[in-house]
Amino acid sequence: MTTHLDATTAADVSVSAEELGVPAARRRSAVLEESIRKDPGRFRVLTGDRPTGRLHLGHYFGTLHNRVRLQELGVETMVVIADYQVLTDRDVADRLTEHVADLVLDYLAIGIDPDRSTIFAHSAIPALNQLLVPFLSLISVAELNRNPTVKEEISQSRQSSVSGLMFTYPVHQAADILFCKANLVPVGQDQLPHLEVTRTIARRFNRRYGDGGATLFPVPEALLSAAPLLLGTDGAKMSKSRGNAITLAASADETARLIRGAKTDPGRHITYEPATRPEVSSLVLLAALCLGRDPHLVAQDIGGRGAAALKSLVTEAVNEYLAPVRLRRTQLAEDRGYVRQVLRDGNERANAIAETTLDEVRAAMSTAY
Ligand code: TRP
Repeated sequence: MTTHLDATTAADVSVSAEELGVPAARRRSAVLEESIRKDPGRFRVLTGDRPTGRLHLGHYFGTLHNRVRLQELGVETMVVIADYQVLTDRDVADRLTEHVADLVLDYLAIGIDPDRSTIFAHSAIPALNQLLVPFLSLISVAELNRNPTVKEEISQSRQSSVSGLMFTYPVHQAADILFCKANLVPVGQDQLPHLEVTRTIARRFNRRYGDGGATLFPVPEALLSAAPLLLGTDGAKMSKSRGNAITLAASADETARLIRGAKTDPGRHITYEPATRPEVSSLVLLAALCLGRDPHLVAQDIGGRGAAALKSLVTEAVNEYLAPVRLRRTQLAEDRGYVRQVLRDGNERANAIAETTLDEVRAAMSTAY
């Protein structure tokens, strides 16, 4: 597997980092990090994933690691399993029960603590989904049309036509975020346009229905993480569907096999030069992330011993790093009842929050009968 730094991820959405507002979001994120350290209780984070398969190292170093970090800093964290969102670019969400259980297992294995964080599925929260109706009235078709991330996803979609759900899913995400009044959303830069939709909806709702300046919804902020984007074993972006990913649940042997087959380049001397040697540098970076070391030093240590030595170092580092996660995952997987209960409890908590918010929305909109 290879990795590269997130400076290149803007290519995925074919819009520049400037257009996405990345520099400003980066500056703001540094300020937010400072506030989080000082007063974590001021924040509520909403984050989540689509249940489309097991999580991999790309997810881990991209977002999961950061979620656990925020949880450990004392920030209340809500994790949405976005099951309805699976239907945005395909007709049928297959094996949902299995994929949802896998997600819960992955979350628990990496250290999301169900006593401090809430894991829930958005389809199980009726009041959350009901927010979609007023929210849809607060954003125009033209505004949704301009969303560069949706545009890109539509162009890559495996469907021949664009469904209403695909087109409006940033509004659904606004409901995911605002139902629990989250004020902080850790995102990758391609998700910034989505968060902008949420911010617009929050502001407009408050303006239209706010009584004497009362703000029902916080205007949530993006927390951009400086996380590296991991590429798959074929040198392309690591993704569930490409079969180039090392999942958290993979065995040590499977991990070794995948890394052995990873693409490198003919240069014998190992260096860390992400721009010119993306595959080799990515392997170096992966080892560095697992070892908690500077990638330049990792490359230096391998030096002239070549790609084979690099790959065995990466394999060892990944397997050692993931060993406790995998052990925990295996143990938890034997207790399906517990996994189901974690989700049920999370859904129950999320439902209580959503109903309170919906009551407030009803009152604000004069639809409390
Ligand atoms: N779109 C996210 C993904 O594809 C999942 C998600 C759904 C989400 N709702 C959200 C993320 C709200 C952040 C905020 O992985």
